[in-house]
Amino acid sequence: MKNVACIILAAGRGTRMKSEVPKVLQQVHSRPLLSFILEALEGAIADSLSKKILIVGYKDKTVKNAFRNLDSVTQTELLGSGDAVKRAKGVLSKFKGDVLVLYGDTPFIRKETIRELIRKHAKEKASCTLLAANLKDPSGYGRILRDDNDNIVKIIEERDTSIYEKIIEEINVGLYCFNKEDLFSGLAELKINAKKQEYYLTDIVEVLRKANKKITSVSCKNPIEALGINSKLDLARANNIIRKNVLELLMLKGVTIVDPDSTFVNMKAKIGKDTIIHPHTIIEGDVTIGKGCEIGPFARIRKQTTIDDGVEIGNFTELVRTSVSSGTKIKHMTYLGDAEIGRNVNIGAGTITANFDGKSKNKTIIEDGSFIGVGSIFIAPVRVGSGAVVGAGSVVTKGKNVPPHKTVIGIPARVLKGGRKR
Ligand code: UD1
Ligand code: CA
Repeated sequence: MKNVACIILAAGRGTRMKSEVPKVLQQVHSRPLLSFILEALEGAIADSLSKKILIVGYKDKTVKNAFRNLDSVTQTELLGSGDAVKRAKGVLSKFKGDVLVLYGDTPFIRKETIRELIRKHAKEKASCTLLAANLKDPSGYGRILRDDNDNIVKIIEERDTSIYEKIIEEINVGLYCFNKEDLFSGLAELKINAKKQEYYLTDIVEVLRKANKKITSVSCKNPIEALGINSKLDLARANNIIRKNVLELLMLKGVTIVDPDSTFVNMKAKIGKDTIIHPHTIIEGDVTIGKGCEIGPFARIRKQTTIDDGVEIGNFTELVRTSVSSGTKIKHMTYLGDAEIGRNVNIGAGTITANFDGKSKNKTIIEDGSFIGVGSIFIAPVRVGSGAVVGAGSVVTKGKNVPPHKTVIGIPARVLKGGRKR
């Protein structure tokens, strides 16, 4: 594969999002929208990519900050996608090769598709190769117009279509490969769209066509790849597509998901086989759950939590930045934050770790085999030794560690002489 440069458009205001947050930073499965296409790009052509330029504009500093590893150029006036691409001309002045242009709001384009587009562009010696898709509902997308010989002649944006053009199902996904010289000479000829007062990148197709340049296309295998994220509705759609996908993959690996419709598992989570996830369970972020566990119903497992094999987590239980070793049971209405729970521990209903003292987050360590009575509160930092018993309703105060194999009780919790031995 010869040298390829890439321009990623991320300057738009994202007006339809109706949000203060730039569109490319909107979260999909706790990741910024832009990270998806960047990952596909990296997977497709990391080795032959000579330059990657991010075009930023709306809240440029915030976007740049989130993607510090990329070179960026600011589009000072948001004059449309055509103008945005032009901004990269200076940075690419010495570059020789093909130029990929992609949009930051198309998270589902696969690396294989990007590779195929570049391959076809080179093979056909085309001036422009674009990604097309056939959609049953093409509304909102630019339509691809072809002549009687099936040659692409033009892309027409939805708002400029006639009723005859509206029914065209072949749409422009928003991924292009250009011959560099043709790209910048074509952009120089774009005229501003009267309705939108913007320079449309898509108008370049007609410009190149009129100059007798070769335009080809690749068609998406899966129409989901075409999804452009413009509004909060699209954002929810994207989240849901990934959610279903994640659950399907987990089920194929032997995880029981009792009710896929009410279960949310983040794409970064890992779950072992024969674990049962009961309804209304939310697993957020980079969570790892072992084999043969039971989670939920109504459990919320948050980031940086690790759960070993054979653990039971029941209803209305929230865990964050917590590790739970094998055989432990945490079955009802419990909050554990920044906790380290040993093996075969029993955590009674309503147990709470007070991990935040107003300034910092502190750890609660509960060692192997201890028994925590219902309604116990741990004011962190605090440690419960192995085989200890904490009586129901105790408040174990800051730094007052519970010695191993002893029983504590009361507020504040004190060692009970001759308490229950474990
Ligand atoms: C665009 C395409 C449309 C295609 C659709 C696919 C154009 C004119 N239309 O429409 O044919 O079917 O994507 O999803 O390109 N941007 C800038 N600067 C600007 C304006 C936009 O960088 O001044 C960036 C945006 O951040 C975004 C991309 O360009 O990443 C596309 O802009 P958007 O407004 O989302 O275009 P669509 O209306 O979706
Ligand atoms: Ca879009």
